[in-house]
Amino acid sequence: MSCYLLIPAAGSGKRMGSDRNKLLLELLGKPILQWTLEAAIAATAIDWIGVVGQPCDREGFQQIFDRLERAKPIAWIQGGATRQESVFNGLRSLPDHANRVLVHDGARCLATPELLQRCVTALDTCLGFIAAVPVKDTIKIVDAGVVTDTPSREYLWAAQTPQGFIVDKLIAAHERAEAQGWEVTDDAALFEKVGLPVQIVMGEETNLKITTPQDLAIAEFILKSRGNTHRSSDL
Ligand code: C5P
Repeated sequence: MSCYLLIPAAGSGKRMGSDRNKLLLELLGKPILQWTLEAAIAATAIDWIGVVGQPCDREGFQQIFDRLERAKPIAWIQGGATRQESVFNGLRSLPDHANRVLVHDGARCLATPELLQRCVTALDTCLGFIAAVPVKDTIKIVDAGVVTDTPSREYLWAAQTPQGFIVDKLIAAHERAEAQGWEVTDDAALFEKVGLPVQIVMGEETNLKITTPQDLAIAEFILKSRGNTHRSSDL
């Protein structure tokens, strides 16, 4: 069954200290978004890619699309003011027959094609999932600079993307969020709010979200140690 991928890429470079979309910054000679797209193209279980961007970045994104081997369609979709709005716009732009969707942040450019493949397979057996890894740190709940609780690490996982869903269920959750004014930072949170189950797919420790200049330096190190390529296997 076909699987569609939405890449939210409509943010800015504020926390990166950049005056433009961080996804257009170069990492080992290629824009961050290109690394993400190359992994998505290499994952053969993905049939269609929608990149959600701001109008000011459209030309820059198009140049990246033109550079790629276009084994599958890549559509440009206009983003919104928040990640949540950008994903909702993406969902409304999916082809009518789309049944399964992965949402994967453009800023997570180190996710491997193997992880993306595993995520598509997960949708054979669940309505929604997140890629996640168990946390290594002890996490504190803090209020006004004072620790108020220390949750047991056994129950704590760090959420990543890809996250994947049955399309009509996720659209219904976004519609309800819009009606109720819910604001969340990932799509799984909407699934949780409407009472739908979210499974875990084991993520990757190296699947970091490029947010700060330090992340760029770490990403460069990881890519170099992989031999500077996403395509670690023929999928
Ligand atoms: O800002 P942050 O790194 O948390 O954003 C996660 C992803 O959401 C990024 O890939 C970013 O481009 C995207 N985003 C978006 N629309 C927005 C804000 C962020 O697609 N309005």
